[in-house]
Amino acid sequence: MAYSAETQLQLQSDAAAIVARYPQPRSGLLPLLHLVQSVDGFVSPDGIAFCAQTLNLSNAEVSAVATFYTQYKRHPNGRYTVGVCTNTLCAVMGGDEIFETVSKHLGLGHDETTQDGVVTLERVECNAACDYAPVVMVNWEFFDNQTPRSTCALVASLRAGEKVRPSRGADEVVEFKPMSRVLAGFEDGRADQGPSAGHASLVGLRLARERGWQAPPAPDRSTDDTGTDGSESTGTDSTGTDSTGADGTRTGSSSDGTRSP
Ligand code: FES
Repeated sequence: MAYSAETQLQLQSDAAAIVARYPQPRSGLLPLLHLVQSVDGFVSPDGIAFCAQTLNLSNAEVSAVATFYTQYKRHPNGRYTVGVCTNTLCAVMGGDEIFETVSKHLGLGHDETTQDGVVTLERVECNAACDYAPVVMVNWEFFDNQTPRSTCALVASLRAGEKVRPSRGADEVVEFKPMSRVLAGFEDGRADQGPSAGHASLVGLRLARERGWQAPPAPDRSTDDTGTDGSESTGTDSTGTDSTGADGTRTGSSSDGTRSP
């Protein structure tokens, strides 16, 4: 099913704005995939074709990228992606238990969607929020220090149409399509809402300031066997003659790396 004329015009206008950000048009493929996801709710065959035509790529090239990243959905997604982090730290802090409990509660496995189309459940990899483990994401907003019970309550609220407030960041979670448009680079004015770093992330910084701790000075690399530009010594001697023998052994250095006279 092709896009309506109105949708096609809007997509072309938005795509032009995305492509203009990059020296090479094909560099705009990732945000363009988010853009079509913001229209279709997933990366549809029409979306693949639109990206390919816009960037002068083949459908196969676009599909190869879309299937590589888990943020791109190849079948219709729920209005809210509920991602339970089951990567190492969250798993041992209860992430596996959360996933199993919510999975039973919803009757869903990984990457499956409730029949009402509201929630897609996923296992997700580390979200760099390990200091709040176990973490659950709803459309990439953080819900910190979750339990099986709190996560079941969270998905129940989403299915009841209630607003839910993340632990940090934006004041509320928006649905999958508008969130995808933000990921395409069209800001919705919520980027500066709420704190991005919470107490647990800032403890080390606070202690360092209180105790006057500072990072040690950077090592002096001027006497290393690397040039100041970071390039490795070429093995040329003071006359500029390469001191590597015909058999490949270094004739100007001893085996411990010191230079012979
Ligand atoms: S392991 Fe879950 S946020 Fe890092």
